[in-house]
Amino acid sequence: MEPLDWLKQRKSCGLLRSLHPLKRAVGGGVFSLADSRSLVDFSSNDYLALSHHPAVVESGLKYLKKYGTGAGAARLMSGDCDYHHELERAIARYKGKAAALLFGNGYMANAGIIPALVGRHDVIFSDRLNHASIVDGCQLSGAKTWRFRHNDMAHLQELLQEKRGDGRALVIVESLYSMDGDRAPLGELVRLKQQFDCVLLVDEAHATGLFGATGSGLVEEAGVTAEVELVMGTFGKGLGSYGAYVAADSVWIDFLMNRARSFIYSTALPPAVIGASLGALKVVQTEPRLAGDLRRKTLFLESCFAKEGIVLGSGSQIVPLMIGESDRAMRIAGELRQQGFYVTAVRPPTVPENTARLRFSVTLHQSDEELLGLARAVSALFHE
Ligand SMILES: Cc1ncc(COP(=O)(O)O)c(C=O)c1O
Repeated sequence: MEPLDWLKQRKSCGLLRSLHPLKRAVGGGVFSLADSRSLVDFSSNDYLALSHHPAVVESGLKYLKKYGTGAGAARLMSGDCDYHHELERAIARYKGKAAALLFGNGYMANAGIIPALVGRHDVIFSDRLNHASIVDGCQLSGAKTWRFRHNDMAHLQELLQEKRGDGRALVIVESLYSMDGDRAPLGELVRLKQQFDCVLLVDEAHATGLFGATGSGLVEEAGVTAEVELVMGTFGKGLGSYGAYVAADSVWIDFLMNRARSFIYSTALPPAVIGASLGALKVVQTEPRLAGDLRRKTLFLESCFAKEGIVLGSGSQIVPLMIGESDRAMRIAGELRQQGFYVTAVRPPTVPENTARLRFSVTLHQSDEELLGLARAVSALFHE
């Protein structure tokens, strides 16, 4: 199909994607350049508002001034700088692992790690709602991939019994699902991966900084740090910076350093980003009240919705409201925008057909008045 016809077809089904330029102010408010409107952002993953935390900004600036704007080369060329190792040591410690490896971002991490771990003689068991970067990593690997029903351990067990084979078997889940905000049953996953001799890779993109005694994530909270071989995550969400990591024992990290093509063939992360990530790691460990504040805000939003007769509650800061049809979700999101709320309608192919939803992301940028205002505005449109 010609590109123009394809675009027209997408538009007619309410599936056309487009960009909406924003100005982002200190304090987290956003201003839409398209319609000169101030908006409260319910789409950001900057959960702890660390992208504007003075200590994080200061740390980024310090590294920028000290080391310049770029690393200049890939790590395996001359781009391997002391500050990369400083961040790898810090994130490994935080995650309770011996070592870590940085990647350009979370997409590159998954697209690099998975094909490094398994190939065409191996097999992958991947949750059906795993992020696109995991789906693409699986495809790139050439390994036979079996997708189990979301969080359905009986289905996973059935597939493991039938399809495990003799090669390496990799099980991949997100600890906190990006579109539904629910958690993987990590204890049960560990039991199955041990029973069937698999390697377990857990994506903590949306959990890092928010859960567990030290805030390192749901793997820590579930008490399975030692049993999960590979924990990956990104600095671009709860930690308010950019880039990604995988933490594991030293053998896995050396293995990935030698095999992950998105690590080998890409310029190392720049100093300002490393400085910001180091600053963010310090903040989440010295200010654990931030994660508690976020939980309280989430419960407050859910209570506001409950008063409007809408029962929500994923158990996390990602709060989805199921709508169903894409164009209805788009229409409600558009109306909310008119009323000053920036809410994303998440549609297929990001989520399964007929499960278009509004995804409210709670962050410390939002005030209680704004949360209450959102619940009232959504209720009026939802019950229309
Ligand atoms: C579960 C999950 N993994 C990986 C990524 C990719 O991370 P990044 O935005 O750093 O590329 C995302 C981002 O949306 C995600 O939700």
